[in-house]
Amino acid sequence: MSRYILALDQGTTSSRAILFDRGGSPIATGQRELPQHYPHLSWVEHDPEEIWETQIQAAKEAIAKAGASADDIEAIGIANQRETTLLWDRRTGIPVYPAIVWQDRRTSDRCEELKAQGLENTYIARTGLLFDSYFSATKIEWILNNVRNARKRAEAGELAFGTVDSYLIWRLTGGKVHATDLTNASRTLIFHIDMLDWSEKLMSFLDLPKGILADIVPSTGIIGYTDPEIFGKPIPIAGVAGDQQAALYGQAGFRPGVAKATYGTGCFLLRHIGEQAVISENRILTTPVACTDIENASYAFEGSVFNAGSAIQWLRDGLGILSSADESEAVARTVKDNEGVYMVPAFTGLGAPYWDPDARAAIVGLTRGSTRAHVVRAALESIAYQCKDVLEAMDEECEVPLRELRVDGGASRNDFLMQFQANILGIPVVRPKVTETTALGAAYLAGLAVGFWSSEEELESLWKIDRRFEPEMDESERESLHFMWQEAVGQVRVSSP
Ligand code: G3P
Repeated sequence: MSRYILALDQGTTSSRAILFDRGGSPIATGQRELPQHYPHLSWVEHDPEEIWETQIQAAKEAIAKAGASADDIEAIGIANQRETTLLWDRRTGIPVYPAIVWQDRRTSDRCEELKAQGLENTYIARTGLLFDSYFSATKIEWILNNVRNARKRAEAGELAFGTVDSYLIWRLTGGKVHATDLTNASRTLIFHIDMLDWSEKLMSFLDLPKGILADIVPSTGIIGYTDPEIFGKPIPIAGVAGDQQAALYGQAGFRPGVAKATYGTGCFLLRHIGEQAVISENRILTTPVACTDIENASYAFEGSVFNAGSAIQWLRDGLGILSSADESEAVARTVKDNEGVYMVPAFTGLGAPYWDPDARAAIVGLTRGSTRAHVVRAALESIAYQCKDVLEAMDEECEVPLRELRVDGGASRNDFLMQFQANILGIPVVRPKVTETTALGAAYLAGLAVGFWSSEEELESLWKIDRRFEPEMDESERESLHFMWQEAVGQVRVSSP
């Protein structure tokens, strides 16, 4: 048996690849920035060729850094940015249009139009999602309606639709496999989360032809083999999941009650809720978790916060008041509190639990005494407040209150933020030793399929705590700070609650 599992983590802003050993430790990492393209206001696109190239370069870099070769890799697991939509020609493999990224809001008006036709509840009940341009369905429709001949070709069965997982699988297998796992399928707004299959009814409202669809596979299992040209020999692709479900898996979130927050550009909270696809009344999403077989699916509540680390990036790149994101922690610690300054980072609207696409960011409560440290602190605190809003909305729907929050992603290394998160939630925040849980989850899924690891129990034993942040704030202070935050949110909201 070979030494490593190769995890590919194709994210919104970068393509990463990590080799994991049998102990679940990262051995070598490759990374490439993924260029962002903004052809119009509120449009966000990726070049499919750049997705592919950066991902393969990152994989080769990781392999080279480990001094390894394809012989050392037992299997490949894929985790990917979800919802991002591609359509390509089944014969040539050439995409008909750039990838429309999950953040792209070009179809918001179309979503409003469909909502006005009374369709939203039909979609919510079947998909567990909301009618928002975040998801793939209206992006597919847009391409079919706006790219010359695309609809005709799709109806003739010439085009394939895929999220980024499908596209990578297609490219990795040299065009032999057109598949997606159920975690990715469930983010398209055309997947029925109870029937665990594509919904012809939901497709029919948007006139989406069936011929574009991929086969749905479990998150673990051999899906195909890489074209030998790529790594020198075929390697099984044995695991695939949307990045947030992969991260929950990498946090050993196999059972109801486990919740994780991944702090990246946005922040995504998933809380395992068991085998019933409960539909939230609080605008929280219901989404399948990564599973070993489709018939035994389990679900999570998900709160997607669109802007988290992006607030810190904006302080660095937009305002120029930080030289690096890492500096934010030391700067925030130079003041004893926020002195009434709040930032609501609604740069691309507000996601869960507000779902207000037209809200825009604001910094409120500034006085002549406010300094850059207060603004930096407010930006970090805004991340924690947004997570609190999501978890509170989830709490109202869960019988058992959350006991702790597992954290990962870049900003989980920021001790100031993690302590404030624990303080404002009033429950412990737990950081594992390996915070690359998205890639780790993809590796676990692939490793289970090929016998590299034997069971979820074994994976659970690999999950080790780095640090546990206990809440250190009293209830009344927590409540009054949160009240002020909600006042600030109220100031940026456009659509009524
Ligand atoms: O739903 C979008 C999410 O999958 C993107 O994750 O890590 O690429 O920002 P990330």
